[in-house]
Amino acid sequence: MKKKSFYLLTYGCQMNEYDSRLIAEILSKEGYKEVKDESKADIIVMNTCSVRKHAEQRVVGRTGDLQRLREDKPGLIIGLVGCMAQNLIDKGEKIKGVDFMVGPDNYEEIPRIIDGLDSLDSLAMVIKKEKTILYEGVYARQDNSVSAFVPVMRGCENFCTYCIVPYVRVGLQMRSSKDILNEVRGLLKKGIKEIILLGQSVNQYDDSKVDFPGILKMVSETSVSRLGFFTSHPYYTTQKLIDVIAEGENIYKWIHLPLQSGSNKILKKMNRKYTKERYMELISKTREKIPNISLTTDIIVGFPGETDEDFQETMEIMKEIQFDFAYMFKYSDRERTSAYNLKPKIPESVKAKRLAELIEIQHKIIRIKNEQLIGTIQEVLVEYKGRKNNGWRGKTKQNKIVVVEGKTLPGEIVKVKITGLNGWTPCGVIIDKGKNT
Ligand code: 5AD
Ligand code: SF4
Repeated sequence: MKKKSFYLLTYGCQMNEYDSRLIAEILSKEGYKEVKDESKADIIVMNTCSVRKHAEQRVVGRTGDLQRLREDKPGLIIGLVGCMAQNLIDKGEKIKGVDFMVGPDNYEEIPRIIDGLDSLDSLAMVIKKEKTILYEGVYARQDNSVSAFVPVMRGCENFCTYCIVPYVRVGLQMRSSKDILNEVRGLLKKGIKEIILLGQSVNQYDDSKVDFPGILKMVSETSVSRLGFFTSHPYYTTQKLIDVIAEGENIYKWIHLPLQSGSNKILKKMNRKYTKERYMELISKTREKIPNISLTTDIIVGFPGETDEDFQETMEIMKEIQFDFAYMFKYSDRERTSAYNLKPKIPESVKAKRLAELIEIQHKIIRIKNEQLIGTIQEVLVEYKGRKNNGWRGKTKQNKIVVVEGKTLPGEIVKVKITGLNGWTPCGVIIDKGKNT
């Protein structure tokens, strides 16, 4: 029988993006064929996120929309995978119109489940594993010619009180440095230029022989042109790590350090394991060693018990640090987390007001920072041609997105003169081919 075609739809974080490519590899190896147009697919796999309620609601909405495709294609299979799938499985819940659900630790079972569906007449399948697995020796099937993610660990056990991840990706497992380097070498052979090491708390990596600064250094000693990592936990950020970033010629001068809140009272309730003073000290040490480093962060407003004063402390620290970029969220109450039981909850209207205030100030900071780039020369890794032919998209050594004009190709590193901003995105012209290692 001819194997079916599949289409992958991805929500959520970089780990989910990686996992979708892992699923692509697992299905392709079994003879299934990936298509890039969902209307041509026999199977639609939705890789989902449960970090905020909004992410889950979007998936429910999309599942409803997909039922319309079924009218033309009665045999269409719809699968839900990822963190939200695991969350539903654990709670014993289902979504109407979904044929199978698989959590992040059971992806190798997907082909068997799909094969089984034929004979079971599209029955929903639910399975569970107790602990995170590493998929040793199974490497994601890349569909980007320039850049790739490589996880160094899977799962999380930090238990920040707002976060669902430790419940849906249970436990923490370190990949061996050997397996990581094998995946990296394979990617480099295929021409990949940029590698981003991944983990829910990536700098916690330690396989008992090699720690995170160690694996970062090992990967930087390969022929990779650009190397980054995401997402760091301030608690595990050490001077040794800062030194490795400073010394690695091909390592992005960028670190994403989620602060979450500027109030010590809230940080404690979040179980973040640092104070704002300790965080500030880390920023000072980092900037001292690497003055041009780009610092980015995540902030949650409206955590249970957050007063106006607590929020003002977050505003103050944001003004003081001047992050290059920030992902800013309203707290979303997640069943199963311990913050779910914390009171008082902050009204939606207050959360929305605080978020708007924070976004306004952060956007001003980004604009000022990007204006400072005008007139400078930047080394840019070219990624792809933008839509509507409006130049090439690339990234500076600080991992800042820029749009550049000139003759180049994806994967090239070029020297660019920044000439202005488009919105807040720096734009420039290629003045030299740069080096192409
Ligand atoms: N509500 C809002 N934001 C959250 N995040 C994690 N859990 C929640 C939640 N319950 C944010 C954190 C984290 C980022 C990936 O998502 O800021 O760093
Ligand atoms: Fe990623 Fe966490 Fe969302 Fe899962 S719940 S997709 S790990 S952000």
